[in-house]
Amino acid sequence: MSKTYESCHYGISGLFLFAKKAGVVSCNRILRLLPGEIFQEQRESERLEKMKLTIFRKWLFEEIAVVTVVLLVGWGPVDAAVQEESGVNRMIIYTDKGTEQISRNIYGHFSEHLGGCIYDGFWVGEDSPIPNTRGIRNDVVEALRKIRIPVLRWPGGCFADEYHWKEGIGPRDKRPTMINTHWGMVTETNAFGTHEFLDLCEQLGCEAYVAGNVGSGTVEEMQDWVEYMTFDGDSEMANLRRMNGRDKPWRVKYFGVGNENWGCGGNMSPGSYADLYNRFQTYVRSYSGNRIVKIACGPGSENYPWIRTVMERARRNMDAISLHHYVRGTGNWTRKGSATKFDEAEWFALMKNTLTIYPLLENNIEIMDRFDPRGRIGLFLDEWGTWWDAEPGTNPSFLYQQNTIRDAVSTGIFLNAFNKHCYRVRMANIAQTINVLQAMILTKGEKMIVTPTYHVFEMYKVHHDATLLPIELECSDYKFGNDSVSALNVSASKDNSGRIHISLCNLDPGNTAEVVCALEGAEPKEISGRVLTAEAMTAHNTFENPQVVKPATFNNFKLEGNILTITLPTKSVVVLEIE
Ligand code: AHR
Repeated sequence: MSKTYESCHYGISGLFLFAKKAGVVSCNRILRLLPGEIFQEQRESERLEKMKLTIFRKWLFEEIAVVTVVLLVGWGPVDAAVQEESGVNRMIIYTDKGTEQISRNIYGHFSEHLGGCIYDGFWVGEDSPIPNTRGIRNDVVEALRKIRIPVLRWPGGCFADEYHWKEGIGPRDKRPTMINTHWGMVTETNAFGTHEFLDLCEQLGCEAYVAGNVGSGTVEEMQDWVEYMTFDGDSEMANLRRMNGRDKPWRVKYFGVGNENWGCGGNMSPGSYADLYNRFQTYVRSYSGNRIVKIACGPGSENYPWIRTVMERARRNMDAISLHHYVRGTGNWTRKGSATKFDEAEWFALMKNTLTIYPLLENNIEIMDRFDPRGRIGLFLDEWGTWWDAEPGTNPSFLYQQNTIRDAVSTGIFLNAFNKHCYRVRMANIAQTINVLQAMILTKGEKMIVTPTYHVFEMYKVHHDATLLPIELECSDYKFGNDSVSALNVSASKDNSGRIHISLCNLDPGNTAEVVCALEGAEPKEISGRVLTAEAMTAHNTFENPQVVKPATFNNFKLEGNILTITLPTKSVVVLEIE
């Protein structure tokens, strides 16, 4: 057994110390022997005590059986048996103790001028036989509206720091072309520009997040762009917008000042970026009632010196700072692994790599807390997801990859982690929406399919703007070789109408998991559930078989009073609704 990254309060008793000293049990094991100790710090109400007692009885029964076998046949076989069992896991959800709101923007998306994301993904042009509204694919808009896409980041990525927005406005046949130097040296036609993007956001009903050019752009260019999009009065830029067919300004809520400026966005040091940020952001104005949220470029994964310096030197001028984090099934960028052809070693590696999101968030948040103890500044994970070798036969620069149940379980873990840290994590944008990296949607000509990752976003939409509920979880390990990770990963929330939602992931592809859950403070009447799982670890949807991985009704649970017992299938994501 191990505690997960959820907050756990384990008591340590004399027996524990004695047993450890005697070398009889490991720390994890003793937690199973002393279940009554676990909740010492939370003993608040009699009702809770009753629930715990029920769970405790169940544990006690198991443990008496274990101890009996120990006495009869010794420790070794029992330890081995325990290692093999799928394990009973315990959890308490404090349904009346939530205080923080999970921003819907945690379920945000990112689309770059890269491979088939914009062209053939969103944009087919007005003359296309593929059904479209002003050039934007209708099927894609419909699919993204179903998951209630809250915010879309554009135009990059690395592309943002070489994008000159004025080339993407006005009559399309007069727009100049450019080379997309980051992504395959292909010709960018600029057919999809500011008007098309903001039209897309309106069709999707989501907020716009525009990433500005610091690496190769000017302050004036950035200032003009904001004025062009959002100023309602009489000005050169506002009038240019009107000339191009848009009278009223758009609402542009989020503006990023550069992207990965430690790398593709100019190879800067944190100090020089912080100074540039302070200068550029000065001219990112809030016009005509459009209050812009300004986002500074933060680190890639564990680049802590970057966030420390930028927070130190620029915090007064930012509303949020970004963090990018990509995960793979191998430890290196030259062979990231195949998206669809992998064994359990690579499955396990992805689970383990995904769980690094917890310490990564905590370390970054700790630095932010030092400079911003009141929590004014948001942490925006504006690029995250899995990154595999490009599908064989495709242009490697286009980052086209398939997407399996493995990506779906990884997504469930990421989203649970973001929920849990919603005090700081106020936006996250998975990379990227269509045909690139961990996509929601894949297109091929007029065909469109949704991926397992899409289904997780659809199932988790119940958490949008809901109140995060505190959880205590003690769970078994998913072991592979000599290594192990917690087998379960969870988050829970309560929505405006009082419904509770629990999202659970079973990381183990070989063992089901039973979870005994006390719903403290709730009087549950009705429960329903959905599950995403598959026979094979590598299961994925294709244009020929688009429904291989899709959600199904889940009813493998039992409710007794406030105690809910759930049995999760192997390699699964389950979302429960409790009324
Ligand atoms: O999402 C692909 C690329 O990954 C983005 O352009 C860049 O910001 C990151 O390195």
